[in-house]
Amino acid sequence: MDPAGKASVGTHAGSGPASIGRKRQEAIYIAGFAGRSQPVPVSPDRLEAAALRKLGRDAGAYFAGGAGLERTAAANRAAFDRCRIVQRAMRNVAARDLSLELFGRTLPLPILLGPIGVLEMAHREADLPAARAASAAGIPFVASSQASRPMEDIAAAIGNGPRWFQLYWSSRNELTASFVERAEKAGYEAIVVTVDTTLLGWRVRDLDRGYLPFLRGRGIANYTSDPVFAQLPMEGGALPKPPRPGPGALKSVLELLRSFPGGPARALSSGEALAAVRRFLAIYSRPDLTWEDLPFLRGRTRLPILLKGIVHPDDAVRAVEAGVDGVIVSNHGGRQVDGAVAALDALPGVVDAVAGRIPVLFDSGVRTGADIFKALSLGAQAVLIGRPYVYGLALAGERGVGDVIANLAAELDLTLGLAGRRSLGELDRTAVILDHGAIPAALDPHPAAP
Ligand SMILES: Cc1cc2nc3c(=O)[nH]c(=O)nc-3n(C[C@H](O)[C@H](O)[C@H](O)COP(=O)(O)O)c2cc1C
Repeated sequence: MDPAGKASVGTHAGSGPASIGRKRQEAIYIAGFAGRSQPVPVSPDRLEAAALRKLGRDAGAYFAGGAGLERTAAANRAAFDRCRIVQRAMRNVAARDLSLELFGRTLPLPILLGPIGVLEMAHREADLPAARAASAAGIPFVASSQASRPMEDIAAAIGNGPRWFQLYWSSRNELTASFVERAEKAGYEAIVVTVDTTLLGWRVRDLDRGYLPFLRGRGIANYTSDPVFAQLPMEGGALPKPPRPGPGALKSVLELLRSFPGGPARALSSGEALAAVRRFLAIYSRPDLTWEDLPFLRGRTRLPILLKGIVHPDDAVRAVEAGVDGVIVSNHGGRQVDGAVAALDALPGVVDAVAGRIPVLFDSGVRTGADIFKALSLGAQAVLIGRPYVYGLALAGERGVGDVIANLAAELDLTLGLAGRRSLGELDRTAVILDHGAIPAALDPHPAAP
């Protein structure tokens, strides 16, 4: 154990999964005894607050913000609050196992790092430290289409660890095909198609700052490194003529030039930076995407395909019928539709509709190990972590992300044991009560007559 309390999940290194939670507690308490504080707060609220203090205002708004009045983000959390764990006593939980099988891989934890764009706003090395932390913990890193580094560089940082690629389906199918081909070549093991972002949500914090990172050349590394992208004709991509430059204009231009691969000199001399941004804005999303487009993707990859952003049971059934390999119940952390159904509230309906035919994963609002316990009890196979790992990255790079993963794993392990369960396979809906008045029959002291 590292006396400084450095993250060590240790589920897959022969250290015995029984002790993940206790080892992490001991590491933190011993570090505290030695007078060393944790660079990454354990409390999710303090984690967010500390990261937002460190991040600039533009980055803070981009990472923390949601759509509209941010009611969906609040609903995501409220749904976890309404879901309560029902412990069972005295069941010998001394040995516990958090591992699971997913798409032919044994994973040590039911946790993935979800796709997050523009991580260069959180850390100088952007996606790379987060990818390394995921790899060290043995969990999949889901690289975003909007990553700040090309997917090949991220794959290299991951080494032999598991990796998935998240696809934003471009309006140009040839670019979509190129992304998928590159992902396969770089050893990504699944394609996650995000279906809730065919248009960018109305993100008030970013709008109030007039800040769109992509316009400044940020988060478009997969595009500027793509041979097909470079050949795309410039179509309909003219930016509206900017008004007379204000005081912030120089900063915007400098950001754009600095973000461009090859550096400011090349960007300036060739004019490529602005051309790339214009081309990106013209093709990055695909509002006319339909179920009929899926065979195009199916025909281009043998990798498992998951749809991310499913909340309606009928869409889940449609996904199964379309031959996709998994769905991710998610509302994009409340960044797309204001006042949408909480992701956790949508989970049981999707799980029932899918009826075990394909894995159901979950994200949006997961902040603690207890949250993970609840999502798994409601039928998710694994969860994706979003903002919390970005905050760990902002505060302490690779170590910070490792700490966030270790804390989630530790609390999940302890909650599992304290709830009287030894493995993820023992989790089902009897482990929780949904506080909407619905009490599982097995727990209802006054069951209705059949
Ligand atoms: C700053 C930020 C950027 C994101 N970028 C992407 C992305 O590029 N692709 C994607 O599919 N989802 C993206 N998401 C959504 C996350 O994958 C995930 O669904 C969401 O963060 C879950 O909500 P939570 O962070 O509140 O738990 C992003 C989320 C945030 C907060």
